[in-house]
Amino acid sequence: MPLPASATPQTPVPAHGEQAARAGSRARAPGRCWALVPCAGLGERAGAALPKQYADVAGEPMLRHTLRALAALPQLQGTLVVLSPHDEHFEARVPQHAFDRRWLARVGGATRAASVAAGLAALRERGAEDLDWVLVHDAARCLLQPAWVQRLIDAVADDAVGGLLALPVADTVKCEEGSARVEQTIPRDRLWLAQTPQMFRLALLQRALAQAGAQVTDEASAVEALGLRPLLVPGAWENLKITWPADFALAERLLATR
Ligand code: C5P
Repeated sequence: MPLPASATPQTPVPAHGEQAARAGSRARAPGRCWALVPCAGLGERAGAALPKQYADVAGEPMLRHTLRALAALPQLQGTLVVLSPHDEHFEARVPQHAFDRRWLARVGGATRAASVAAGLAALRERGAEDLDWVLVHDAARCLLQPAWVQRLIDAVADDAVGGLLALPVADTVKCEEGSARVEQTIPRDRLWLAQTPQMFRLALLQRALAQAGAQVTDEASAVEALGLRPLLVPGAWENLKITWPADFALAERLLATR
């Protein structure tokens, strides 16, 4: 999918950037890759009886689909799953023997950003270092395909800032005034929808999240707040985040066609 010219990402050298960013627009520092799956949400919008990441899609908990896709990428050192300290479902829904190189940290917080920040600290305890890449992926994007992750890694591996899978907006975008009546139409030609994985170096992401606070809804927005411009890498429409009750049936239909 070609990038719209107007949305072609730039990677400026930041005044206060990390070591890799200061090295120029294309950094060459090596780095290992780790995956981090925040899995401490309740997912109440999905209307499931248990947290949505444990609800079945095509006969299997959503989280198992997600972890299987990540386990298929040999270049990942491993996948850290961040659970709520109160989680009572993981062991029953994802058996011990399932998926190599998979670890748990019961350090989830009140927001996604807090869960990711705590997970990054846990990754350091497992040996991750400043310049290692971390691919943060929503548990609820369970249709993930290894080829999309590979595309992200290939596009970002030499980048000074990092990047994310995303989709150019196809529909006309409306902003409501607060009561489901249109206040304005927003030009869509430079708009993208952020997906995951989002791939950033560990030290940069820790600093970004520490400064951005707990309310950011993805890693890229925390990095943007440092004045950096993450790379937009074309994702896939099928990489949807299961959010609403109807999404389960859609995901099952899509899985049935694979
Ligand atoms: O709620 P939403 O779908 O935006 O959550 C995205 C991801 O963040 C999910 O995988 C969810 O489990 C995770 N999350 C988390 N800790 C929270 C809230 C959400 O790990 N407090």
